[in-house]
Amino acid sequence: MLYLINFKTYEEGLGDKGIKLANSIADVRKKLNADIWAAPQFTDLKEISKITPIVSQHIDPVSFGSHTGSVLPASVKDAGAMGTLINHSERRLPMDKIEGIINASKLSGLKTVCCAADIKEVMEIAKFSPDYIAYEDPELIGSGRSIAQEKPEAISKFVEVLKDLNPEIVPLCGAGIATKQDVQIAQELGAKGVLVASAIVKAEDQREALLNLVL
Ligand code: G3P
Repeated sequence: MLYLINFKTYEEGLGDKGIKLANSIADVRKKLNADIWAAPQFTDLKEISKITPIVSQHIDPVSFGSHTGSVLPASVKDAGAMGTLINHSERRLPMDKIEGIINASKLSGLKTVCCAADIKEVMEIAKFSPDYIAYEDPELIGSGRSIAQEKPEAISKFVEVLKDLNPEIVPLCGAGIATKQDVQIAQELGAKGVLVASAIVKAEDQREALLNLVL
């Protein structure tokens, strides 16, 4: 299973605190031989890339030039990101932008984890062939209630639909995931990884929370 820990814009994931969290991730990665990626805040990408594998939380479909305020794919690549997380429910994008970002990522050698909030979106996004699609129910994000326990049928449906559309796109899921049991359920339903934020980033003991999550 792949574990993508999204630092969002949580205070507990910024600067020195973000570096502490990245060190816990690196420690648990090593201890459990687990595939864990971090999605830190932009200003910490370079520093954290020296500690553990990272993806950026967004990029824009722009190349070098006059794009003040845009996040250049080449800049996150240069900062050490191996990929990017896009179209998160908290950073929604129109379909033409998603297509542009996925194409730009391919040119920049970045892997794309593209979020989808429902099956209709999954079907549209699959046409652009991202590396991963992460199905997250917006209602359950940050709720403390896990998609694996509350809506297992939605995960199965997503996995099944994606397999039919393009079996090369890796299915991930997220929203409220917090425990090994959640991960186990997601895995049994066919997901190849999970996206997790609050249960880890906001935990009092982040290392312990990771140990309680990773199978
Ligand atoms: O990107 C993962 C995120 O949206 C899930 O958030 O807090 O429900 O784990 P959370």
